[in-house]
Amino acid sequence: MSNIQVLATERQIRQAVRRIAREVSRRYQEESILLVGVLTGAFVFMADLARELYRMGMTDVEIEFIDISSYSGTESGQIRFDRDLTVPISGRHVVIVEDIIDTGATLAFLLKLLEVREPASLIVVALFNKVTRRVETLPSERIITGIDLPNKFVVGYGLDRNGKFRHLPFVGIVAS
Ligand code: XMP
Ligand code: MG
Repeated sequence: MSNIQVLATERQIRQAVRRIAREVSRRYQEESILLVGVLTGAFVFMADLARELYRMGMTDVEIEFIDISSYSGTESGQIRFDRDLTVPISGRHVVIVEDIIDTGATLAFLLKLLEVREPASLIVVALFNKVTRRVETLPSERIITGIDLPNKFVVGYGLDRNGKFRHLPFVGIVAS
């Protein structure tokens, strides 16, 4: 069994998800929204966020996934685009659901990609945020983040190292 140093506990994550859900429901109240999860890392956050939105009274919620990854750990900003949305987003209120922001390259690419499809609005919710690594400037008024993390490679709650550790209910660093 690997030794994992916990950086965000289950309880802290639950509170952050709730805070983000509260902000989304405040912004969109009676609107219909489309949640767009970024595969694969956002799948756990998506599952918890979507149900939290229901508990907060949002009933008109649809869920889609898009598969985009950056070559993690680099600042090259190179993006791999593997799977597009299956529905048009023109005129829709779109909320991108991302696991973690690092350099910002993935989100800068994604915002550009979706913006031209003319959604009614487009915001991002990201559960984790490595503030010190930012290279791309992102529109702060459209980004809601949860927990700030140090510049370390983290795993858990959807995040992996070589495909492993996504199922941890908390986030931490693997001591190898
Ligand atoms: P950028 O640099 O584009 O990075 O903002 C965001 C994407 O990179 C992945 N990422 C990580 N994945 N542990 C991970 O498992 C990490 O510490 C980490 N940092 C960034 C993530 O997929 C995110 O979409
Ligand atoms: Mg990713």
